[in-house]
Amino acid sequence: MLVALAFMAGFPVLEGCDSRAREIRSELSDGELLLFDRGQKLSSPCWACHDFYGTQNKVGPSLSGLFGRRAGDSAFPGYSQAMRESGISWDRQTLARFLANPQSVVPGTTMVSPGIAARADIEALVFYTERVTR
Ligand code: HEC
Repeated sequence: MLVALAFMAGFPVLEGCDSRAREIRSELSDGELLLFDRGQKLSSPCWACHDFYGTQNKVGPSLSGLFGRRAGDSAFPGYSQAMRESGISWDRQTLARFLANPQSVVPGTTMVSPGIAARADIEALVFYTERVTR
């Protein structure tokens, strides 16, 4: 009920707070839970452009199945040439580097983002992303 109300109010933080997130949370240790929840909060602005585990393409590609995938290699039709030719294969390290500064890692990318400054934030967001996009 609370979630439904928050959802109707357009509260974006709770967008990923559904059965999938609950299922993943149930398998995590206390320390991992802190990381996951922090990452989930930080993912809130990303959800505006990305579906993390459904297959819907929004302004940006669905991130479902991201880890192990080559950059720019999904059914999303709107990749930049820069992304497709970046040679990146997504893992914890490459994602962390990209999120810190998308434009320097993929010069010419159409993903407009200032980058995330704090290492701990990046670590949490990478942890969340790895878990939910599996
Ligand atoms: C304003 C919309 C927007 C926001 C917000 C956004 N992205 Fe993106 N993202 C895009 C677009 C568009 C692309 C494709 C870029 C390209 O082809 O150059 C992309 C590409 C990506 C890719 C590469 C995907 C692939 O299939 O190779 C990853 C990973 C990614 N974004 C993660 C994130 C994360 C995590 C966040 C939140 C911190 C985020 N994005 C926020 C629009 C956005």
